[in-house]
Amino acid sequence: MYSEKVMDHFTNPRNMGEIENPSGVGTVGNAKCGDIMRIYLDIDENQVIRECTFKTFGCGAAVATSSMATELVKGKTIEEALKVTNKAVMEALDGLPPVKVHCSLLAEEAIHAALWDYAQKNKIEIQGLKKPKTDIHEEEEGEEEEY
Ligand code: FES
Repeated sequence: MYSEKVMDHFTNPRNMGEIENPSGVGTVGNAKCGDIMRIYLDIDENQVIRECTFKTFGCGAAVATSSMATELVKGKTIEEALKVTNKAVMEALDGLPPVKVHCSLLAEEAIHAALWDYAQKNKIEIQGLKKPKTDIHEEEEGEEEEY
């Protein structure tokens, strides 16, 4: 049911934990399953993401997508990080079962929320970044059908 990559990132998650004095933190939850994901970013003066870590209180797929998402945004500029969608994370994991697609949305939204926090703290605007949701539940219906 799960790809080898999902199992690998679930059993051996990368970048787990907190960053002290992060440049941005984002937390999102899914009211339906009760799972919560938090992403921490350390961003340098050139707007490059030096470090990205996560804390996830959730299912295995949420842990695996958090882990992969942190790997994908590390070393990227904030503009590039914005393009790390849940689809990109799923592709990098060689797919997720349809009922687990919503778990990957947490990762995308948590990154956006952390970037939003960074922008607020630095009083800057990040093009293409919308105010993040704190709960992804509303959007999840219908999206699952696509995969
Ligand atoms: Fe809730 Fe996976 S079941 S995030």
